[in-house]
Amino acid sequence: METKFVKETRCFKVSRVFPPDVNSYNTMFGGKLMSYIDDIASISATKLCRATAVTASTDSVDFLQPIRPTDCVSLESFVTWTGRSSMEVFVKVIKEDLASGERKIAATSFLTFVALDEHNNPTPVPQIVPETEEESKLFETAQRRAEMRKRRREESKQFADYLLTKYPWE
Ligand SMILES: CC(C)(COP(=O)(O)OP(=O)(O)OC[C@H]1O[C@@H](n2cnc3c(N)ncnc32)[C@H](O)[C@@H]1OP(=O)(O)O)[C@@H](O)C(=O)NCCC(=O)NCCS
Repeated sequence: METKFVKETRCFKVSRVFPPDVNSYNTMFGGKLMSYIDDIASISATKLCRATAVTASTDSVDFLQPIRPTDCVSLESFVTWTGRSSMEVFVKVIKEDLASGERKIAATSFLTFVALDEHNNPTPVPQIVPETEEESKLFETAQRRAEMRKRRREESKQFADYLLTKYPWE
């Protein structure tokens, strides 16, 4: 079976925080950061599978620190675990105060991508191999997260059966 090292999937992105990126409290708009997270995570997943990779789910985005226009925002992503066709990607968001250089973890997120073949069917991905301590910790704890996701997905499917698709005025 083909394997790849986590380092082969690593991506980095650094951005300024411009006026259109902030909310009315002058901190970075969560939706903007979520878009950055999905964007960079999809590149990590694609570097692993070298095929179409679609976002299947986002576990959560934990906004730990406000990001201000005086900061720059750095994102780092890498594949932490692989199933048959699915890939778990971790994204770490660091804010850096541009005046002092102080760096803090501002947000973290786990996303799952699925590799698709030319017929849009899930297709096997190379298995990921961790090397560093951080990569190994994330790899070892991934199976438990994958099982939680599986249970949540079943619940979401059952829940969807109760939801209406009619217009509100119908
Ligand atoms: C994700 C998707 C491809 C799964 O297709 P499917 O036919 O239901 O696939 P399967 O049930 O065979 O599952 C395939 C893999 O995806 C995983 N998976 C499917 N849904 C998942 C979810 N919500 N969260 C995590 N993993 C998921 C399965 O565990 C399985 O993993 P494995 O191959 O490693 O064992 C399909 O639901 C889809 O196309 N969703 C829309 C994706 C999209 O448009 N994303 C953009 C967001 S706007």
